[in-house]
Amino acid sequence: MKAVWVSEFAPFEQVRVADVPDPVAGPGEVVIEVQAAEANFPDILAIEGRYQIKPPLPFSPGKCAAGVVSSIGVGVASLSVGQKVAAQTEYGAYAQRLRVREESCFVLPEGMPFAKAASLGLVYQTAWFALQDRASFKPGESVLVLGGSGGIGVASIQLAKALGASIVIAGIIGPGNDAIARQAGADAVIDLSASNLQDALRDQVKELTDGNGVDIVIDPVGGDSNAAALRALAWCGRMVIIGFASGMIPTVKANYLLVKNIAVTGLQWSDYRERTPERVKEAQEQIFSLFMAGKIDPIISREFALEEFAEGLRLLRDGKAQGKIVLKIGSE
Ligand SMILES: NC(=O)c1ccc[n+]([C@@H]2O[C@H](COP(=O)([O-])OP(=O)(O)OC[C@H]3O[C@@H](n4cnc5c(N)ncnc54)[C@H](OP(=O)(O)O)[C@@H]3O)[C@@H](O)[C@H]2O)c1
Repeated sequence: MKAVWVSEFAPFEQVRVADVPDPVAGPGEVVIEVQAAEANFPDILAIEGRYQIKPPLPFSPGKCAAGVVSSIGVGVASLSVGQKVAAQTEYGAYAQRLRVREESCFVLPEGMPFAKAASLGLVYQTAWFALQDRASFKPGESVLVLGGSGGIGVASIQLAKALGASIVIAGIIGPGNDAIARQAGADAVIDLSASNLQDALRDQVKELTDGNGVDIVIDPVGGDSNAAALRALAWCGRMVIIGFASGMIPTVKANYLLVKNIAVTGLQWSDYRERTPERVKEAQEQIFSLFMAGKIDPIISREFALEEFAEGLRLLRDGKAQGKIVLKIGSE
């Protein structure tokens, strides 16, 4: 089969598509004929050996795929050959075939396109657990989403709206990025590149929330925006740290936590996938239901062939993706 093949950690521009042996399903595993794979920012980190989990070399990157089950291993009871599924994995999705554990596959609702199914994985799962689990979101609460034009940002905005947030505010940076945050459903957009961000963010958030501040901050960005967002939280507010797209890991000032009874918490979604697959399955069913009900919809901006994967990753690295990047691998 053809696969994007990383034989040593290197800049993604140096990585090529290669002919490699087909995977074989072991006990409790299936092989999927991949039709679409989602490209994500962490794929770049994995290829370059900068991700917290370093895959064993050689490997194919890619955490989310959708396709058709083509073979099943011993002991697989819930899936059969020919079923259309989405799959979540640590790596391996940038390939024509993917070997994956049975419990990491989710049967697609009738009529769901493969590209959408692949895009409803990592970022929606992460946003789901950030809101529902780490932040204990309740309908009627207000949410500030940093990086509101990015993968996690768009998913968080859409899910917060779909789950009944009173207001969803997007923090964005970069020209034109307000449009994608608004398309995702943000009620208001704040520019995070303001020179006096510490005051500007808090003041604008307070104005939008009757002087209260927001109940929840979702932060996949870090850097200066994080400290500013901490000040924009309401009494008993919760902040979820998801990533550091700005390249800067922030330091949290503990006095803010004490003064307003604030909780700052982290989220590493892959831990949920490994430790509580039943909760991830339940979340995926809810995410698929919200899609089928028309309440959430991944914004796919560009599709690339497998051989063009580097072009897609370049858009992600340079902040020019303007939505999800999907690799179209199969013919369906
Ligand atoms: N914890 C987990 O389980 C988990 C899961 C998935 C991803 N992540 C991490 O979450 C982070 C975001 O992932 P993603 O898929 O959303 O990435 P993405 O699609 O590249 O989006 C990143 C967002 O951050 C914005 N941004 C970049 N630098 C910024 C700055 N200095 N100030 C304000 N905004 C800035 C980007 O704006 P521009 O587009 O204009 O640059 C974009 O909106 C990554 O670090 C990723 O590794 C963590």
